[in-house]
Amino acid sequence: MKIGVLGTGMVGDAIASKLVSLGHEVTMGSREANSPKAKEWSKHAGSQAKAGNFADAARFGELLFNCTNGANSVSALQAAGEGNLGDKTLIDVANVLPPDPSRIGSLGEEIQKTFPRLRVVKTLNTINCQVMVDPTRVPGAHTVFLCGNDDGAKKSASGLLEAFGWKDVVDLGDITNARATEAYLPLWLALWKKLGTLDFNIGVVRRS
Ligand SMILES: NC(=O)c1ccc[n+]([C@@H]2O[C@H](COP(=O)([O-])OP(=O)(O)OC[C@H]3O[C@@H](n4cnc5c(N)ncnc54)[C@H](OP(=O)(O)O)[C@@H]3O)[C@@H](O)[C@H]2O)c1
Repeated sequence: MKIGVLGTGMVGDAIASKLVSLGHEVTMGSREANSPKAKEWSKHAGSQAKAGNFADAARFGELLFNCTNGANSVSALQAAGEGNLGDKTLIDVANVLPPDPSRIGSLGEEIQKTFPRLRVVKTLNTINCQVMVDPTRVPGAHTVFLCGNDDGAKKSASGLLEAFGWKDVVDLGDITNARATEAYLPLWLALWKKLGTLDFNIGVVRRS
């Protein structure tokens, strides 16, 4: 599949690299077409990997990942261009860091409201990027959450999560549930400080 990854940070790098390793064609997007980080990534990731600006990545992808800085994700998506985003599935992994209490609702909802045709799926934002693409870094059963308004988009996202190695994917419902997973960030930060490792996650335990 052709996938556009918007974002050149450690998350964009981890996700784009994993997608290429799974056989997908990926364009990584940045504010600048000549981003040294994106160019460096594409040089090392192989012939399936290309670099461009946000609009190039959005135009290229049949499915998109938002791995941009959460406080600036809406601007990044505006730069990608509404026409290029269209009604594609956008997997949004971003968080606003530090959390901004003046913001109403969640970033996932804000993106969905700003681009109503886009099929936004919020997922993976509760986990460090190395664990996102390799859940076996954390032993035992643990959980990734997902939410969004479009069932087809959630099915596509779940397929990719399974390919990443996720076994326990909990669909929380519509995109308003992004409030819950984004609100987890302060607890994630407290756990990181306490545990001193990024290789951790939470698991939902059910009575079977
Ligand atoms: N680090 C983790 O393990 C982790 C875990 C869960 C969720 N997240 C979330 O994942 C996202 C990516 O995190 P990250 O640490 O990889 O990268 P980041 O530093 O938060 O974001 C980097 C990306 O944001 C773009 N950006 C920055 N300022 C911008 C602006 N003013 N306008 C438009 N675009 C702008 C950058 O563009 P350029 O390419 O042009 O520089 C770059 O592509 C964040 O929302 C973060 O909260 C991270």
